Amino acid sequence: MLVDIIAGARPNFMKISPIIKSIKEAQSKGKNINFRLIHTGQHYDKNMSDNFFEQLQIPAPHYNLNVGSGSQAQQTAGIMIKYEEILEKEKSDLCLVVGDVNSTMACSIVAKKMNIRVAHVEGGIRSGDSTMPEEINRMVTDSISDFFFTTSEIANENLKNEGIAKSKIYFVGNTMIDTLLANTTNFFPPQIFTTLPLHKKKYIVLTLHRPSNVDEESLFATLIQNLIKFSSQIPIVFPAHPRTKKIIEKLNFSFSNLFVIDPLSYFEFNFLVQNSMAVITDSGGVTEETTVLNVPCITLRNSTERPETCSIGTNVLVGLDTEKLKTAFENLHSGVWKAGSIPPLWDGKASERIVNHLIEIFNL
Ligand code: UD1
Repeated sequence: MLVDIIAGARPNFMKISPIIKSIKEAQSKGKNINFRLIHTGQHYDKNMSDNFFEQLQIPAPHYNLNVGSGSQAQQTAGIMIKYEEILEKEKSDLCLVVGDVNSTMACSIVAKKMNIRVAHVEGGIRSGDSTMPEEINRMVTDSISDFFFTTSEIANENLKNEGIAKSKIYFVGNTMIDTLLANTTNFFPPQIFTTLPLHKKKYIVLTLHRPSNVDEESLFATLIQNLIKFSSQIPIVFPAHPRTKKIIEKLNFSFSNLFVIDPLSYFEFNFLVQNSMAVITDSGGVTEETTVLNVPCITLRNSTERPETCSIGTNVLVGLDTEKLKTAFENLHSGVWKAGSIPPLWDGKASERIVNHLIEIFNL
């Protein structure tokens, strides 16, 4: 059996690493399961891609589609054309996609139209906000997937409500957390931790990259000013995504407690998160990691496709509401934060479950 594993953007890499490891384990037990790793090239900078391959021991891709950046349509179309060429040369038996980036949707459409079955890891999550490209990617991918490997009961319910047969839904847990738990002993401090220096639980980590937060200059500037205002001079370390970096350079602002740095490697980023007082973010994956690391998290979005990080974990949504942000900071400063716990099946074994299901489904 040949599985195509699709990865393209930074948040995909930590999701595929443990799946590949589990496939290799199954192979060593004599199971007839092989894979081709297809990197779409959606992310291409060393610190957005190669570093993750090195640290997470992901093998070199069999194909790199080198699609690069572009508009939503250009990027999606570029991936589709190139992936179709590969499938025309040699079809696989299953296309396994993860998450909700453009690469996820593009490859699932191509495979399905060539009558190849599609498995969606992290299927069923919904923010209800279709102004986000990711929500469209999720809905389209789920509408044509054959197997859904889900991270929560809420995702299962979303799929059932959309008419997906229960028999296609496999609640397995969270592959991103498989990687987190497998690597906690590998975390190490980034340079800024020692050069500043930073002190444990006495700094905040900030990540922002959603177009709705960073693409409009005045909105982004106000957001940063509010964060500085409420931060009471606590150092804020801001590893900035390339998209965000561009606008930061344009705005050319300078605040004594804001430290903008390049994107970090996985081990360095999670060291910083684990030892921080709190994380402020608009990422989805980061809210899962802070939940498991038990670090307070403030999300600058109005909705989340991962509601369990709020109901069970350490996350609170404040959106762009200044009052809510102020209250969240007051709680942080006074050391009052809800005690989170870990969502069901986020136990480091999701990938093993996925591969076991594949062995069963395909009778390997
Ligand atoms: C993509 C995903 C988003 C995910 C994010 C994580 C979609 C629709 N969005 O958003 O869900 O949370 O990745 O990072 O798939 N760039 C570089 N170097 C790179 C990659 C990008 O400089 O290696 C710059 C380019 O100028 C590009 C911009 O960043 O135009 C945005 O990249 P893109 O892949 O389009 O979207 P992301 O914002 O990264």
